[in-house]
Amino acid sequence: MDLREKKILVLGATGNVGHGVAAAVAEAGATPIVISRDKERAKQLGALFPTAQVLVGDVSDAADADRLGREVGAVDHVLVSSGGWWQKGPFVRQPAVEYDEARRMLLDAQVHAARVFLPRTAETGSFTLVTGVGATLTIPNASMLAIATAGVLALSRSLRLEQRAGPRVNELRIASRIERAPRPGVVPSIAFGRAVLKLFTSTTRGAIIGFDRPESFDPAAHVEER
Ligand SMILES: NC(=O)c1ccc[n+]([C@@H]2O[C@H](COP(=O)([O-])OP(=O)(O)OC[C@H]3O[C@@H](n4cnc5c(N)ncnc54)[C@H](OP(=O)(O)O)[C@@H]3O)[C@@H](O)[C@H]2O)c1
Repeated sequence: MDLREKKILVLGATGNVGHGVAAAVAEAGATPIVISRDKERAKQLGALFPTAQVLVGDVSDAADADRLGREVGAVDHVLVSSGGWWQKGPFVRQPAVEYDEARRMLLDAQVHAARVFLPRTAETGSFTLVTGVGATLTIPNASMLAIATAGVLALSRSLRLEQRAGPRVNELRIASRIERAPRPGVVPSIAFGRAVLKLFTSTTRGAIIGFDRPESFDPAAHVEER
């Protein structure tokens, strides 16, 4: 798999999932492009990945996403792994601001990433939205997660349906726990990242691709829509 000369935008590179992908992309000789909302975290990314293009900004903000799009320019591949977990208690106890924050993290970032970066992705490239099996479940005390990720699943369906030509759009649906620090029962970020590099060279288009273990990861193994 030769990814040298490729520019690969990894959103969420300061987090568990994106970090492993950015590290694997750098290891493969491609140029990772990474963004953090926080200057200090962005600096750390620059130190970890000396060949990366590092930007500070907020993809969940429409105007800032547009600015980031102009600064990043054309890319070969995009993997969107912004967002995290939300399980803060019963819906009726949440202040209004909680909805805004959860939506920004779990839906707006994905929507603006697609709006700004999909048109900048190479015709022969790929655009991958990361989701988890949790997005298909209703978990107690996780209403905001359920609401926002339902939107991401809808975004994924729409993009996968509409994007019949040009960059391949897929959803990567994770069914295991990925963490940066290795411990029993979790998949280390770097092992995850190395496995999912196959996304960038596969021909799969318009699919939900499941991830369970690195050794069994196959971009041709599709998950049925539910
Ligand atoms: N880890 C897992 O085991 C697992 C399993 C299944 C699915 N997933 C999915 O994978 C994605 C990433 O999970 P993770 O575990 O890597 O999360 P994480 O460790 O909490 O990292 C979250 C990342 O999202 C960015 N982010 C947070 N809020 C944002 C906002 N409002 N706007 C833009 N960026 C924002 C953060 O960047 P900043 O530096 O800007 O804060 C950070 O890089 C999520 O969609 C999650 O549902 C993860």
